[in-house]
Amino acid sequence: MHKIIVTGGTGYIGSHTVVALQEKNYEVVIVDNLVNSSEKTVDRIEEITGIRPAFFPIDMTHQEGLRKFFRLHADAKAVIHFAALKAVGESVQQPLLYYRNNMLGMINLMDAMLEFGVQNLVFSSSATVYGTPDSLPLTEKNSTKPALSPYGNTKKIGEDMIEDVVKANPDFRAISLRYFNPIGAHKSGKIGELPSGIPNNLMPFITQTAIGLRKELLVFGDDYDTPDGTAVRDYIHVVDLAEAHVKTVGRMINQQQKADYEIFNLGTGKGSTVLEVIKSFEKTSGKKLNYRIVGRRDGDVEQMYAATDLANQELNWKAKYSLDDMTASSWNWEQKVRGLEEQDSFN
Ligand code: NAD
Ligand code: UFG
Repeated sequence: MHKIIVTGGTGYIGSHTVVALQEKNYEVVIVDNLVNSSEKTVDRIEEITGIRPAFFPIDMTHQEGLRKFFRLHADAKAVIHFAALKAVGESVQQPLLYYRNNMLGMINLMDAMLEFGVQNLVFSSSATVYGTPDSLPLTEKNSTKPALSPYGNTKKIGEDMIEDVVKANPDFRAISLRYFNPIGAHKSGKIGELPSGIPNNLMPFITQTAIGLRKELLVFGDDYDTPDGTAVRDYIHVVDLAEAHVKTVGRMINQQQKADYEIFNLGTGKGSTVLEVIKSFEKTSGKKLNYRIVGRRDGDVEQMYAATDLANQELNWKAKYSLDDMTASSWNWEQKVRGLEEQDSFN
């Protein structure tokens, strides 16, 4: 049984990946300081898979704590690094919080990996590194652009740091995964995305509006050059994303990488407009959504969707869930989590 360290493993994408890894018989060890998640997620993972992942409440910015942890887990075959702060607006207000957390966390992580001989790193990157696309669909060869936010910059700098570390250390290998727009939740409704405060992202705003926590959804702009005028994104089911991480880890452990540092886009290859997401939600939930069209949101790009050929071929992975699957599972989660919150205050 191969041991995999998952940083940020109680978070949204991390928890789904832990489940997917356990289902493929990996032993998972989670590191998370719970700044944006709850330890109850460990219980939920156990309820889904029947296996309790080991959990260490460590802040990645604390070098000594992380070193002590790695001393115990130097036999791990790979690290999947999800742990980061991710609120774009907050990062503009508090850039140093983001640089300290996301960059120092990665520096400490790679230091410890090198010291204790853990040689395979998977990094959570983002399509945000492409900025406004030169051409669509976005392939991994599209140029990256200056980041629009400190958060986005931590992803770009993270990728660059990894590239340099790989060059300097012949035994160290890494894969960056550039996620497009992850939405949806596990079919059990036991794990999912639980944003703190008012959501910035579309899907949680839709489900929170439908359940009555928000008055109305504001649709940002209907004057884009798209089929219905609203902006286009490549939404991907978080369970598909989790599967891609399992394949990525397998590629690394089985030494199938074609270069010591590789980059893959993770999307479906299909763009959907904001209104299409709303229509899908209304269809799968049977609820009418209260929404209103307003002006564009600053910093939004018109269209983004991935070319998925490289991930399809090299990771032997393809997203299989539809937009309807995504909106249905998000709604299932929203309803269940509100129930769960009443029982035991989930967050
Ligand atoms: P999340 O906030 O749900 O999960 C991140 C986890 O990291 C949280 O559980 C948090 O408590 C933990 N964490 C943060 N700082 C830490 C620290 N210093 N030490 C230990 N733990 C720490 O977010 P997510 O949506 O699951 O995102 C996971 C990763 O994917 C992040 O790196 C994020 O930037 C990246 N990503 C997310 C999206 C998205 O839309 N969700 C898109 C692209 C990339
Ligand atoms: N949208 C609305 N109303 C809302 C929220 C979003 O109309 O209340 C629209 C946005 O304008 C956009 C689409 O829905 O057209 C998707 O918005 P999200 O905020 O869900 O996703 P983004 O593509 O804007 O954000 C993603 C990631 C971020 C990343 C960012 C940068 O979630 O982590 O891309 O490109 F930083």
